[in-house]
Amino acid sequence: MSTTILHKKNLIPGKTSKLTLYAPEIAARARPGHFVMLRMHDKGERIPLTIADIDPEKGSIVVVYLVVGKSTAFLESLAEGDDILDVCGPLGRPTHIEKGGTAVCVGGGTGIAAMHHIAKGHFRAGNRVVGIIGARSKDLLLFEKELSSFAHELLVSTDDGSYGRKGLVTELLRERLEKDMAVFEVVAVGPVSMMAAVAETTRPFGVRTTVSLNPVMVDGIGMCGACRVSVGGQTKFACVDGPEFDGHQVDFAELRRRLAAYRDQEKLSLDMYERRLHEN
Ligand code: NAD
Ligand code: FES
Repeated sequence: MSTTILHKKNLIPGKTSKLTLYAPEIAARARPGHFVMLRMHDKGERIPLTIADIDPEKGSIVVVYLVVGKSTAFLESLAEGDDILDVCGPLGRPTHIEKGGTAVCVGGGTGIAAMHHIAKGHFRAGNRVVGIIGARSKDLLLFEKELSSFAHELLVSTDDGSYGRKGLVTELLRERLEKDMAVFEVVAVGPVSMMAAVAETTRPFGVRTTVSLNPVMVDGIGMCGACRVSVGGQTKFACVDGPEFDGHQVDFAELRRRLAAYRDQEKLSLDMYERRLHEN
């Protein structure tokens, strides 16, 4: 199914944008934790993006991406009104959300946008939502305003101290857990190193910890095996068994290795794309 970009907002110049896409069937069915696969043109690869928000009445979904390779660089070159060849979704299993008391939702960098939809789900289920968000610096911090509109508490850190607490999200998380042992779940979305560190931070507290994994995906529907991850010693496919898993059971070292496997080819592909752009 093709889709049109209804609205585009550049959040971090050249690096991150927020797209509102017209996709009424997906907007009607999507729940927190779901993702979509986008293919920009007939020679393009399919890329997975977690749904950051939905508006079923307007028939729209919101996705936020980080420019990391050729496909996201091409996506960044599109403008409002442009069409995208196809959008497939909602994919994956939605977040398991139950009413349980206080849920702490941790987001790092562009992962904050995806975490926002999960945090909203906890809020709508009647849970007390504590948001903990972090970025390298103030200009890279996303979705603070959106989260403030419903989170009961919002704690912010930046690596360089330009806004909020100086340091990493895990430092705020540890302090928050020490203060309040009644937290029933921690959810984390962001870089792999952050999700691994969140899982190690919560382990001594014995708090259920859910992480949203971002392995390489090819088809997004469980046929190719590209997205396989090890969880509790078992092989799982993130696209159909996840993308959310128990953070205390995930083999993060293997995930890091698999994410790095095509880095040279990805860089080469991006370099060639940028060179062609300059030549034209
Ligand atoms: P980043 O590297 O700038 O990190 C953002 C914040 O995460 C940091 O400010 C810090 O607070 C925290 N962090 C990072 N490393 C940490 C560590 N080792 N220990 C504790 N805290 C740490 O983030 P970025 O460059 O914006 O990258 C965002 C990542 O999120 C990308 O890798 C992207 O693939 C991933 N992502 C995942 C999903 C998903 O659904 N799983 C969605 C969107 C983005
Ligand atoms: Fe192919 Fe998951 S992306 S099996």
